Amino acid sequence: MMEKIDQTMLAFYEQADLSPDLVKAITYSIKAGGKRIRPLLCLQVLAGFGLDLTASHYQVAVSVELIHTGSLIHDDLPAMDDDDFRRGLPTNHKQFGEALAILAGDGLFLDPFALLAEADLPEAIRLRLISELSRAAGSFGMVAGQALDMAGEGQSLALADLQAIHANKTGKLLTFPFVAAGLMAGQSQPVLEQLRQAGQLVGLAFQVRDDILDVTADFADLGKTPQKDLLAEKSTYPSLLGLDKSYEILDSSLDQAQAIFADLALTQGFEQTAIQETIERLRLHA
Ligand code: IPE
Ligand code: IPE
Ligand code: MG
Ligand code: MG
Ligand code: MG
Repeated sequence: MMEKIDQTMLAFYEQADLSPDLVKAITYSIKAGGKRIRPLLCLQVLAGFGLDLTASHYQVAVSVELIHTGSLIHDDLPAMDDDDFRRGLPTNHKQFGEALAILAGDGLFLDPFALLAEADLPEAIRLRLISELSRAAGSFGMVAGQALDMAGEGQSLALADLQAIHANKTGKLLTFPFVAAGLMAGQSQPVLEQLRQAGQLVGLAFQVRDDILDVTADFADLGKTPQKDLLAEKSTYPSLLGLDKSYEILDSSLDQAQAIFADLALTQGFEQTAIQETIERLRLHA
């Protein structure tokens, strides 16, 4: 699965021949790796509903990974979090300069919509996927969350404001894989709502986990510079609530997400083993 995820992204960019420099910058960040959790979740939910995975499923699964990768390139820029390392390598702007890094992010934000539009799927589903991805990624989702995150630097935010930042900057791109898989599997509106809720829970857990790791982990584990949030005076779960409470929220969000898949197993015959394992791997034992 992992190898095919990478192949799908790289095969797509092999066709882009207008600017070799741009493609080099884009594929540098793709090849740097990362956990690929967003495409993995999408493919595991599809398989859980009994679908045989096709090339189109992979195209949809990687569409969000491309946007995510672009969001990391922009997140690391000097004007934003100003980071020097990502995925164990120098950040995109350190390697290629700011102008090309900005453009690499631009490409990674826009190209996935062609991938979705051109996938071999029923037209109505493609349309829903395009809408879902745009709303998860742009001014109704990740980009808005990033704007709120930047505006919140140097302030101690209310928990509700931090929740809104996390739900948007991270939660919505992590929700897309669940909803997209449900749409492709032809699930009913109530099931799609359950999947959206599972995505929101995993999304919150994921950013709380990232906030905890910023405090507790080291460069070798993270592949990025630790202790950056304190330096930038970001509000985070550990800074507002402390580490113990952050671990509790991480666990309880993951518990609730897992309960949704246990329910889907009972009511829809969903094969839950793989997705439960992936969610379980997000736990951090204090
Ligand atoms: C890091 O995302 C940024 C957040 C949204 C928390 P990931 O932890 O998924 O990064 P990669 O893709 O594995 O590098
Ligand atoms: C990033 O959050 C969320 C994105 C939309 C990229 P962070 O700024 O905490 O991510 P890291 O810690 O740099 O990976
Ligand atoms: Mg950031
Ligand atoms: Mg950052
Ligand atoms: Mg972080």
